[in-house]
Amino acid sequence: MMAASSTTSWRISGEPAATGQKRSRNDAGNKVTVVLGAQWGDEGKGKVVDLLATEADFVCRCQGGNNAGHTVVVDGKEYDFHLLPSGIINPKSVSLIGNGVVIHLPGLFEEGDKNEKKGLKGWEKRLIVSDRAHLVFDFHQVVDGLQETERQAQEGKNIGTTKKGIGPAYSSKASRTGLRVCDLLGDFKDFSTRFKNLVRQYQSMYPSLTVDVEDQLKKLKEYSERLRPMVRDGVYYMYEALHGPPKKILVEGANAALLDIDFGTYPFVTSSNCTVGGACTGLGIPPLNIGDVFGVAKAYTTRVGIGAFPTEQLNAVGELLQTRGHEVGVTTGRKRRCGWLDLVIVRYAHMINGFTAIALTKLDILDVLDEIKVGVAYKLNGKRIPHFPANMDVLQKVEVEYETFPGWKTDTSAARKWNDLPAKAQNYIRFIENHIGVPIKWVGVGKSRECMIQMF
Ligand code: GDP
Ligand code: IMO
Ligand code: MG
Repeated sequence: MMAASSTTSWRISGEPAATGQKRSRNDAGNKVTVVLGAQWGDEGKGKVVDLLATEADFVCRCQGGNNAGHTVVVDGKEYDFHLLPSGIINPKSVSLIGNGVVIHLPGLFEEGDKNEKKGLKGWEKRLIVSDRAHLVFDFHQVVDGLQETERQAQEGKNIGTTKKGIGPAYSSKASRTGLRVCDLLGDFKDFSTRFKNLVRQYQSMYPSLTVDVEDQLKKLKEYSERLRPMVRDGVYYMYEALHGPPKKILVEGANAALLDIDFGTYPFVTSSNCTVGGACTGLGIPPLNIGDVFGVAKAYTTRVGIGAFPTEQLNAVGELLQTRGHEVGVTTGRKRRCGWLDLVIVRYAHMINGFTAIALTKLDILDVLDEIKVGVAYKLNGKRIPHFPANMDVLQKVEVEYETFPGWKTDTSAARKWNDLPAKAQNYIRFIENHIGVPIKWVGVGKSRECMIQMF
């Protein structure tokens, strides 16, 4: 058992596991800490999770698939995780892939093997996979590409997906023809029949889709044997973690609030709930067990793929942020679009998630700027609007109201505490904190673990 951290509020009850026992609201079991993206992704969630994971017993993914790309830098070595929780680096914690995640098995093992070559030892023994998680098949990935081509042809634009099969796999799940881990590990004859039906369903929609069914089934059978030792009933596993001895449980959000299927900039979004509800539905965690919800926001804004981006800077500032910030997608290698920090979207993310604190990352990237702008409100026809527009045509038209700050023109990368930061940078951070109305707990000034200033 690990000592309770003084830096995070891991609340515990120590109640023994038992079903059917009466519990009061104050005695709901261990509290779960959730880390979520507050913009359009790539805010540095991996780094924040890595920081917290050094003390965690469990690190869990609840949604998304290998469309995510989370970077962790430890001892100068850079790891990128897509399906594996970033906590897999910590040899003392268990990593859990929950029912809300969609799993591409070749991708999962490829990722594990690649990281093993970098020195990640024993990951298969530390990984637990929910039997209720849905599978992404190779043909889902092909269909993802075909749908993008179709969108381009029909509407003159696509979504710019990662082509990892995420949309098609969640579509299969929602249309109740999807196949889950428990199906793969059950009667393989039955699984094969359902797999063939699913292929036929997609072929009727996309006649050009060719699938070598027998070859796919052979490979899936092989993967299933490698996967079997990791598979558990995810709900019961989580129940025991919540109600057994004190445990520190961390949930690593993938993608981000503005990419959420319900709350994001639809249709230019991903296909899962990347906001706090996804932690409950994607792992079987009751809302009462949600403790701290940490939002991760970059000190500026980036976006990969298509869609409205009100504070985007298609100029020298955008280029500087892109090059200084090395803003290149971890999963797709695409250049990320860049712009000023948009506090309208971060406040919107807070409305949905109820952040208890914020991690503000990549402050160091702003070090060389003469002046720094922050989007504080949107105007439509000259009038401020209090909400975040649902309609993308409206969002394209908003005029952003900015506050302008003088740049600090000082290298912050060696700062390790608040007092090491220049006054102008402190001013910038305090403004953000006040405007969102959520305390900033960490400020990132570099890639590695130690480049994180902890404020309280
Ligand atoms: P995620 O998807 O939210 O986990 O973020 P990504 O890993 O896709 O992108 C964040 C990038 O920023 C990674 O390359 C990180 O190593 C890097 N990063 C994170 N925090 C900081 C920071 O405070 N300063 C700098 N310079 N880089 C950072
Ligand atoms: P992390 O976890 C940035 C974007 C894609 C595309 C849209 C839909 O690293 O922050 P999908 O393949 O999910 O159907 O693509 O969502 N997208 C991300 N952008 N970071 C991510 O994850 C993303 N996951 C999806 O670029 O625009
Ligand atoms: Mg990323």
